This record gives sequence, C-alpha cells and structure tokens, in this order.
Amino acid sequence: MTQQITTTSTSSHSPVSQTSRLIVDNDFEVAPVNDRLFGSFVEHLGRCVYDGIYEPGHPEADEDGFRKDVIELVRELGATTIRYPGGNFVSGYRWEDGVGPKGDRPRRLDLAWHSTETNQFGLHEMAKWLHKVSGNELMEAVNLGTRGLKNALDLLEYANIPGGTELSERRRANGADEPFGIRMWCLGNEMDGPWQTGHKNAEDYGKLAASVAAGMRMIDPDVELVVCGSSSHAMDTFGEWEETVLDKTYENVDFVSCHAYYHPELKADGTRDMASFLASGVDMDGFIKDVAAAIDATKARLKSRHDVFISFDEWNVWYLGEEPSRNPEGIGNWPVAPRLLEDVYSAVDAVVFGDLLITLLRNADRVHAASLAQLVNVIAPIMTETGGPAWRQTTFYPFSLTAKYAKGGTVLEPKLASGTYETAKYGEVPTINAVAVRGADGAVTVFVTNRSLEAANDFEIRLPEDHGTTVHAQTLHEDDLLAANTLDDQTRVTLHDNDTATLDPATGTIHVTLPPVSWTAVRVK
Ligand code: AHR
Repeated sequence: MTQQITTTSTSSHSPVSQTSRLIVDNDFEVAPVNDRLFGSFVEHLGRCVYDGIYEPGHPEADEDGFRKDVIELVRELGATTIRYPGGNFVSGYRWEDGVGPKGDRPRRLDLAWHSTETNQFGLHEMAKWLHKVSGNELMEAVNLGTRGLKNALDLLEYANIPGGTELSERRRANGADEPFGIRMWCLGNEMDGPWQTGHKNAEDYGKLAASVAAGMRMIDPDVELVVCGSSSHAMDTFGEWEETVLDKTYENVDFVSCHAYYHPELKADGTRDMASFLASGVDMDGFIKDVAAAIDATKARLKSRHDVFISFDEWNVWYLGEEPSRNPEGIGNWPVAPRLLEDVYSAVDAVVFGDLLITLLRNADRVHAASLAQLVNVIAPIMTETGGPAWRQTTFYPFSLTAKYAKGGTVLEPKLASGTYETAKYGEVPTINAVAVRGADGAVTVFVTNRSLEAANDFEIRLPEDHGTTVHAQTLHEDDLLAANTLDDQTRVTLHDNDTATLDPATGTIHVTLPPVSWTAVRVK
C-alpha cells in the first residue's frame, strides 16, 4: 500500500503499515567499536582547508588562523582520526613545500583539482589544529603518484624521529620539538583509479607499496600501514586488485582501504532512483564482505598469522560528476581554494548517510577504521561561508549522535527481522537496517533506518533481561525529502524527539514508529 507522507512531526506521521523486530542479546557480540570508526578526512581541496578550517582574518580566527567556530563544530561532531592531506591531492604533493617559514613556501599547481596550492597550511599546522580540536589522531598519506620510497621515508623521518638527524632537526627548527608520532599511514591514494596522478596497475602498485611499507617499518616498526584497495566496489579491477596487492604486501600492512560514494542516479524519465539510493548500505555491506573474503583468502594462501583489517577511509553521499564537482579548466585558470564539491545535503541524504554508519558498525569486526569524506565545505557535514558563519549540514546529526553513543561501546549481533522491497540496482533488499551498541555504561543504543519511501514501520526492540527502564528516541525525518540546511536557513533539518517510543518494563519490549525515509537512535538506560 502506498501512503502519503502528510506531517512534519515524527509523532504523527503516516499510518504504520509495516513491522520489524530487533532482538538485542548481550551474549552475542560482533566487536568493540574502534574509536577510529569515527574518523574524517581533510584534503587540500576546494575550501576544506583554506576558508574552511583555516581562514586568517576571519572574526572567529585564532592566533594561528584556525576558525574557532569550526573547531567547536568538529568537537561536537565527535570526529576522531583525521586523514590528511589527500585524497587525489596527495598524489602530486611535495610535503616539504608545506613546512618552514610561511613566506618561503612555494605556490604550486594542484593537478588533481586544477587549483593553486599556496602551502600556507601544511603538516605542522595540521598537527597543531588537531591538538586544538581535542588531541585527535593524524592519519597521514604519502605520495605514491609522482613520488615513491625516498620521499615517504623522508617524511616519516621528519615526522617521527625525535632528533639528531638532518630531517628530524629540521622539524625541530620548524617549531615542533617533539616528534608528531604519527601511527597510521596511507600508502598513496586510490592508485587503482585512472584519474589518479601516477595511476598504476595492481602489479606495479603492489611492488611499490611493499617496498615502501618495508622501508617505513625499518624507520618505525610501530607504524600502522594502510595499503590502497579499490576506489569503489564497481571498479573493473575490483577483486583482482585486492588479491594482487595483498599478495605482495600482506605481512607488512595492517589495513586495506575501501572507498565508496553514493548518490541517487538519474533515471531515463528524469527522476532519481531513490529506492536504490536508500539501499546504498547494501552495497557497502557487500563491498566489506568481499574485501574481507580477499583478506582471508590471502591469509590462508600465505599461511599467515597476521591480521589485516579494513580502513574504510573515504565514504559518504557525493553527487559525483554533477555541477559542484566540476574542476576549473583552462591553462591560465588555477584558482586558490575554489568552491568545489560543495554538495548541499538533504534529509534523504542524511538518512542514507546514517544507514552507511550503521553498516560500518555492523561490520566492526572487520572495519577497524573509517574516514567520513570530508570534514568541512567539501562533501562535508560542516559548511562555512568565507568571512561568515559555520553551520551543520543534515548529515552532521546522524554522525554526531552515533559517535556520541557508540564510541567506547560494543556492537551486538544484529538479529533483525524486516520486510523487503525491490530496487533496480540491488534487487530485493531489507526495508530496515539496524544495529545495537552496548555502551561502556551498559546503556544500549539502537541505530535504525527505515528505507521505505512509502510506509512507516512499527519497530520492535526486544531487550536483554537486565534492560534499562527509560527510553529516549531521536529521529531525522522530513516530509520534504529534499529539505536541507543552507546559509539562509541553517537549522531547517535537525533531529526531533520521537514520542512514539514506549518501553514495556515487564517484557523489556520497545515499540517505536519509524517514519518512511528516516534515521532513528533509540537509547535505553
Ligand atoms: O573525497 C574526494 C575525492 O574522492 C578524493 O580526493 C579521492 O580520493 C576520491 O576519489
């Protein structure tokens, strides 16, 4: 039955026509939630760094030029590890350009985004900014596009050796007496992508990554290395790439990366395929399972005792290929910090985004790190106006609430019964996606999306015997699926208390109505 979405309130939405059930069982755990699952990504791209986190002269800028209003929002978002400085950008980056006196730093062409890089922000600024946010971890990427082993080793020596060598003393002279102590390192970025500067085939990349990994470990055996997996599940080389690259690097790396971006594709009739878009988590889940299988197969083939996990270090909704993502063009046109990839996220985008987070949590045994791409202005949960305010996009809310309640917790096995619906891209998919996380304090939070475009859902949660007594549910849902937060209306979309949530203390059963196209967090204390 197709029903109209008729109201704006989550307590009086369309009549319930579907049901689903989640059984929360404390005895069946998936894995502890690694804080690194709530990582994000800052690339030298568009206005992410410049006029994003760094805008000297802005009324909110501190003595280092960092916007304090942005720092506040990053703290509220709850982002942990920050991947830096790219992305495609890193494949042409010379890290030395970004250190030392700012007046001496060169301006360079950035081939990835057809922009000019001023290098006024570099490794030291990033480390300082992270310290100011809340001591967040830096995850650094090395350039394996235009560069290779030598420069990766130089950067590691510069960053992590306490002193006594030319490079480590240069760092100290540049103002960082203590080493940066960077643990996580990406061995290049999306090297399988033909768009990548210095793109390589799996064989060549695998050999290079293996030698860089071995060399880096000679300098610092404690580094955690991320080898490039596929830049999307749909790459022609997917599978074979993982197999070849892991075969060459397995013993010397700790993670293989996955990247995935989703958007509702345009159909022949000019409308968008929302049903498939809402099921993007199904593709992400399959991607993770496929990569996990490649890891297991390699481990078995090599008779290894070593474990490799997944770093899902780029994920988001991205209207890739559409107007906001079009690079500047022209031999004389290399702007500084142009407006690029400034997607404005809607309510439906936030629901899909929340669903992707649920999917990452459900796979917490294999995915030990993830980076929301990106953090500010560029396909980001936080937007800023140059010289003006900063505000939260719709996607900010599922991220911040999930981070708040899931960090430090344990994912429980999702025993979920739900109806299904048909999609053009993925066939028949579950209508409900959900996961339960038991917090360090024993409180249970269930994160759930209703992917149905038409029907509300009566969602039942059966709690374990020692359940709490109070329930609080918050939902992101808008009748206007395309409602968004903008400069002119910064709080149009936000979370609402979902007053339909009830808990029967005698049976430990919760019922909550999930509006169509909605994301909800149900917390029991
Ligand atoms: O996040 C935007 C871009 O997407 C990154 O630079 C690249 O790694 C990916 O293709």
